[in-house]
Amino acid sequence: MNPLNPPSAKSSGLQRSALVASLAERRWLIFVLLVILSLLSLMVFTALHWAAMPPSRVEKIDVKSVHLRGEFIESNLGTAQEASGRVVVRLVAQQYSFVPQCLVVPEKTPVTFRGTSTDAIHGFLIGKTNANTMLIPGFVSTFTTTFEQQGEQLMPCHEYCGVGHEAMWAKVQVISREEFQSRMQREERLNCVSR
Ligand code: CUA
Repeated sequence: MNPLNPPSAKSSGLQRSALVASLAERRWLIFVLLVILSLLSLMVFTALHWAAMPPSRVEKIDVKSVHLRGEFIESNLGTAQEASGRVVVRLVAQQYSFVPQCLVVPEKTPVTFRGTSTDAIHGFLIGKTNANTMLIPGFVSTFTTTFEQQGEQLMPCHEYCGVGHEAMWAKVQVISREEFQSRMQREERLNCVSR
């Protein structure tokens, strides 16, 4: 302290509040650094332990011609079996329905879903499975899952997409492998939409 210039009561009060402020600042700095560190360690943990990775294979599609040509024309939607035996379901989401409204899949078989949207962002979620993603205009979303039990599952849109969102849902019928194979021999594309 400079003896020639003793601090007045006012300036020592100012010094004290500056000290309090700098201590508070330091506390918050440490707190924020801890939050950042814990988030970073969560990322490292999920990356290593669950092999979670950012999407590496982004598929784009021209949203204006989805209906007209290519993979998602109406006659190509539904469940198909490729030459390799892989079961692939193709679907389109639009305000406010899925096409097809009712999907057929075999049990105990890996099923790959390929979907896109023609307008808003829609949600894709199948009842009691881990299938959960978003259908986004201009992109193809894929998800592979296996259905362990026969029966019917609900497939609601779970991403708010407009006034009709709550009425937007479809069904998934899980049938036995034998029934699936016999139906697949009769038809090229399967769905369970009643006509
Ligand atoms: Cu589609 Cu909500």
